[in-house]
Amino acid sequence: MRLSLLHDAVPAGAPPDLADNLAQAQQMAAALARLGHEASLCAWQDSPAASLARLAAQRPQAVFNLVETPLGRASRIHAAPIFLERAGLAFAGAGGRAMLITSHKLLAKRALATAGLPTPAWRTMGGRGQGPERGPWLIKAVWEHGSVGIDENSLAPAHDPARLSAALAAKAAQVGGPCFAEAYVEGREFNLALLAGPNGPELLPPAEILFEGYSPGQLRVVGYRAKWEAGSFEYQHTPRRQEFPAADQALLGELGGLARRCWGLFGLRGWARVDFRVDRAGRPFILEVNANPCLAADAGFMAAAQRAGLDQAAVAGRILADALASAPGGRT
Ligand SMILES: Nc1ncnc2c1ncn2[C@@H]1O[C@H](COP(=O)(O)OP(=O)(O)OP(=O)(O)O)[C@@H](O)[C@H]1O
Ligand SMILES: [Mg+2]
Repeated sequence: MRLSLLHDAVPAGAPPDLADNLAQAQQMAAALARLGHEASLCAWQDSPAASLARLAAQRPQAVFNLVETPLGRASRIHAAPIFLERAGLAFAGAGGRAMLITSHKLLAKRALATAGLPTPAWRTMGGRGQGPERGPWLIKAVWEHGSVGIDENSLAPAHDPARLSAALAAKAAQVGGPCFAEAYVEGREFNLALLAGPNGPELLPPAEILFEGYSPGQLRVVGYRAKWEAGSFEYQHTPRRQEFPAADQALLGELGGLARRCWGLFGLRGWARVDFRVDRAGRPFILEVNANPCLAADAGFMAAAQRAGLDQAAVAGRILADALASAPGGRT
């Protein structure tokens, strides 16, 4: 089959969180080629119309949408699927609406809270929000992903509105976009990945991110350094764990159930990963729902797939089958 992989236009010398998108697209193109498909790369850049024209020139029978940060702007992630829908093309991954709502962390949290799904309390820069005034707060970008802007200065104390406003304004200037405050959940961190299958989404084996050798006062978060700076303490001390004792099975079952509900709530397609923290009392909180998370070999999604016995080619095949089934005129 003739396929196009739509990805970010990554300039030379781009930081690792952006460069990763191209590596992912190249790996998935190789995986699709191993399945016997003719896979071409196509960068989403300049105007949507120009990008779609270059895509059309490849005459794809289906498109793999891997666009994450078009032109370096995370807030435009939903442009590609919206235009693919308008063009009537079969494409892999979440639709435009699901991509918009899950990528705007405040829209996603509102949707989760409305559906009765647990997500930490929050406050916007305008002082609105939901949940108790209990801090401390973690200051996060509304649109970013890959832990952009998350570091040891991201924590703001409880019950100090002036310091909270100042911290939000400073972080917004740093990341170049709106931020919000989310109640900091001290406790364990888990990722639950889901892959489309012939009988609906399949829950892949869970993973926990461990914080090893952290000093008592050190902030236990998977921040930018932990994800992207291989030489940093945080990168080297946050291993992924995929084996769990029997005592964790009830909690893992609960997390899996919540992840499945997120898939249904947002109308996800293809593949997804839900990030959780679990507080000291064992209560899970959904931090975010990642539609189309990174499929690179070293990313969390592929680690979960591998644990289920699926390599990149097997994952690519499943996602493609789902794209064809969801296409206009397809099964759904
Ligand atoms: N409310 C919170 N309480 C505790 N830790 C948090 C909270 N929100 C975020 N974190 C920490 O920051 C990390 C990144 O947060 P989050 O997953 O929301 O952002 P992201 O930048 O979209 O990440 P991703 O790379 O998964 O797209 C989490 O993995 C977690 O370690
Ligand atoms: Mg995350």
